[in-house]
Amino acid sequence: EIGEHESFMHAEMLEQPRAAERVLRGRLDERFGTSHLGGLNLDARELRAIRRVKILGCGSAYYVGQMGASMIEELARIPADAEAASEFRYRDPVIEPDTLYVAVSQSGETIDTLLAVQEIRRKGGRVVGLVNVVGSAIARECDGGIYLHAGPEVAVASTKALTTMFLAFSLLALQLGRVRDLSIADGKRLIAGLQQLPEQIQSVLDRDDELAKVAERLAASDSLFFIGRVRGFPVAREGAQKFKEITYRHAEAYQTSELKHGPLALISEDVPTVALVPDDELVERNVAALHEIAARRGPLVVVTHEGVDLGDLSAAPGTHRIDVPRNEREIDPILLTIPLQVLAYHAAKHLGLDADKPRNLAKSVTVE
Ligand code: BG6
Repeated sequence: EIGEHESFMHAEMLEQPRAAERVLRGRLDERFGTSHLGGLNLDARELRAIRRVKILGCGSAYYVGQMGASMIEELARIPADAEAASEFRYRDPVIEPDTLYVAVSQSGETIDTLLAVQEIRRKGGRVVGLVNVVGSAIARECDGGIYLHAGPEVAVASTKALTTMFLAFSLLALQLGRVRDLSIADGKRLIAGLQQLPEQIQSVLDRDDELAKVAERLAASDSLFFIGRVRGFPVAREGAQKFKEITYRHAEAYQTSELKHGPLALISEDVPTVALVPDDELVERNVAALHEIAARRGPLVVVTHEGVDLGDLSAAPGTHRIDVPRNEREIDPILLTIPLQVLAYHAAKHLGLDADKPRNLAKSVTVE
């Protein structure tokens, strides 16, 4: 609801802690370190028989699908990947009986995702939906699914729906993991992390003034990079997508590891980089890449964790650091995503643009 808010996107962004609580409610099994997902319509034997997971969605739903794929691989050790639903159907895809197909959609009406679901089912595959709108076309066509309970989302740029999609993937990954080799201790560790999340999201949202100042600086550039690797790369893609769709600035996501294979040629004092640097096994390599950017006078916004040592970059005038709260490493991507929404929102506002209605875009694309 827009209420006293300046826009739907603002209201929906601020609603994320509550939306996170709703998607988790009644679905966490603390005793056995697993999740309850009645709507999936898959029993433990069927879950164990899954050999591969293929995730399909468009736009933000596709990027969060990439986050979900990496969580499923990590926790359940099942090969998983995400593909743009808009491409999938056009290459006469091979549909396998022991693959679990997952369709992700806020509206449940996106035509490309719906046609992908129909193609899979026509060829005998099994599809579950991660869908927000109850009774929507995709929800009806799937064999089962997880409703997101994000509440109505009006702004074109997805915020709370995306967060609930990520959490629905966590619940799915937890269950797929626990029917396989994921230990009960690991299951409980993740559940404790998920329970902390609403409060941690709130603490990032509370830093609105600080993020608004950084956004103002970013809004001054015509072109930006968003970089991350492994778990951080889909976050960079989502961050670049949000920024470009509501500010009309050129924002491009790259794997940090690929910088030296191309984009470094474009770095200058006029091209800022927003870098995702979680405190994980890649932190030192990521920080080394930031030095490459700083050496070419590229301004940096570093989204990272408290305690990560940026060395002499911290003192550089062009560097701004945003520390997000630490959760379990598998859950961290969603906390890294939140400040990127806030940055895009404030950049658009600063430029006098209506974040709710970006030019040329529709909330859901229901015709081919
Ligand atoms: C796009 C919207 O057209 O559809 C994106 O502009 C959205 O914001 C995408 O992520 C997918 O929509 P849905 O409803 O299938 O999640």
